Amino acid sequence: MPKITFIGHACFLLEEEGKETLVFDPFIKDNPHTELSADDIKADFVLVTHAHFDHMGEACEIAKSNDATIITTAEIAGDVEGKGCKAHPLHIGGKNSFPFGWVKATLAFHGSGIAGGHACGFVVNYYGKNIYFAGDTGLFGDMKIIGETMPLDLALLPIGDNFTMGIDDAVMAVDFLKPKHVVPYHYNTWPYIEADPQEFKKKVEEKTSSGCTVVPAGESFTF
Ligand code: NI
Ligand code: MN
Repeated sequence: MPKITFIGHACFLLEEEGKETLVFDPFIKDNPHTELSADDIKADFVLVTHAHFDHMGEACEIAKSNDATIITTAEIAGDVEGKGCKAHPLHIGGKNSFPFGWVKATLAFHGSGIAGGHACGFVVNYYGKNIYFAGDTGLFGDMKIIGETMPLDLALLPIGDNFTMGIDDAVMAVDFLKPKHVVPYHYNTWPYIEADPQEFKKKVEEKTSSGCTVVPAGESFTF
């Protein structure tokens, strides 16, 4: 069974024994939720939703030391290639196959952190399971299409408000996406994004038929 580990903030590892490891938005060094360093992250693919520092993090360093490929939107892919990294450019609505399955770039309403670029989310098909990682985004109605066209085993959603969806919008996102399970992130890193993940869990379980697990930083969830 695949395992998702929450490093903290918006950084997750997706892995299964003997298979490829994917790291999402590897903000490690200045991430107050983790004592790990970039050297501790072993990954075959590095998925980056946008180039804000709390998502790009140590992506280049990790990609280089692991000979890993960075999967991100085209302009950011060009930028990291210019820094000597291997990258695969995707763009919104586009999908590509990888050894573990496929990755589709989804809409995200947010800044890209790079001139002329775009932020995105991802749906990752990993050995048959569909995982949606929303990136940083506000709520949008087309999340319904994501859930209808790619039935989700797991959705990872930001709940911290201010820069992204807050708790109530994220609960509505769960209703749109209809994942089997949801795990919240992007909260309690800084005062601007203080939020109670237990309040999110309670509301998800009251208002939707999805399960919700609050995964503490450093811990894992198998699905
Ligand atoms: Ni951001
Ligand atoms: Mn962010």
